[in-house]
Amino acid sequence: MSGEHNEQPKKSVFRKEMSRRQFLSYTLGGSGAFMVGVPLLYNVRFAVDPLLKPDADGEYVKVVEVSEVTQEPQSFQFERLIVDGWYKNDTTFEAWISKDESGNIFALSPVCKHLGCTVKWNGSQDFSDEYFCPCHAARYTKDGKNLTVAPAPLDEYPVKIEDGWVYLSTTKPNSRV
Ligand code: FES
Repeated sequence: MSGEHNEQPKKSVFRKEMSRRQFLSYTLGGSGAFMVGVPLLYNVRFAVDPLLKPDADGEYVKVVEVSEVTQEPQSFQFERLIVDGWYKNDTTFEAWISKDESGNIFALSPVCKHLGCTVKWNGSQDFSDEYFCPCHAARYTKDGKNLTVAPAPLDEYPVKIEDGWVYLSTTKPNSRV
């Protein structure tokens, strides 16, 4: 009888020690896998990321046929694939495209340099042949030069002409004014 009483606690202790070992091995194993896995995934992301940028910044996008562009600025919309980390999305952009006195095609961003509203050519009856912003009445010349309110000229899209089409890249500071 006394021998049976002595064996019971030993079994119980043995079970508790195994359980603790298992707990420690699971915990340390999990932490180790996390510490190794996260940096590994991060590096894999950087290795693969360039492959996910078929339309990275600076690439040209086909927008409109050259024959459609006039001296009078016209608004054209086009789509550009935006890649932000793992998020990819076709985003619509707008450009005001026209020809200057020499017949050169140029394109301006519609984003007002005051607080980012959208400007429009001949957007005010009071100011003809100008870009006008309806939010706080900023005005710009055809070249995008800021006349009132806005602190800077409208941004410009780099233009490329190829096979009778106008291609636009991503905006840059205005080089015309
Ligand atoms: S946002 Fe265009 S004038 Fe203020």
